[in-house]
Amino acid sequence: MNLMKKMLVAPAAVLALWAVTAQATTDEAIAERLKPVGEVCIMGEECKGVGAVAVAAGGARSTDDIIAKHCNACHGAGVLGAPKIGDTAAWKERADHQGGLDGILAKAISGINAMPPKGTCADCSDDELRDAIKKMSGL
Ligand code: HEC
Repeated sequence: MNLMKKMLVAPAAVLALWAVTAQATTDEAIAERLKPVGEVCIMGEECKGVGAVAVAAGGARSTDDIIAKHCNACHGAGVLGAPKIGDTAAWKERADHQGGLDGILAKAISGINAMPPKGTCADCSDDELRDAIKKMSGL
């Protein structure tokens, strides 16, 4: 009886392994087919794909574009304690304690607590960030 069980288990294990391998191959093939044209961008890293598109589309992006793409995710709803867009008092409170707009700009560049460096806009210039902060804060 015991031997019988073993004889059944071994092929079953092999079969299971085979099934997993076959599945993996299929998933890979699907992932390859689903791959978007261009590059996958990782948060916090420079995204060459997007940059290239922006340049191709005529260069400069607007402050609104930057806010919509990089800042709004947190500052729109005040995620993780981020000062909300349009809540001038909250921004002013911060600015007053950190040397004005330049002070909070410096923090935005280096990152502060849950706020990632440059608010995830790795290729934003200081001026672009300053404009975004001005617009969000109303300062
Ligand atoms: C992942 C969420 C997130 C994103 C994206 C984000 N921020 Fe923030 N930001 C925060 C949080 C959270 C704080 C508050 C940090 C704290 O004081 O603990 C903050 C604070 C700030 C401050 C105030 C810093 C200070 O000294 O008090 C500035 C300025 C700022 N963000 C600018 C920006 C700009 C500009 C962008 C877009 C380019 C951006 N943030 C994108 C989460 C984010």
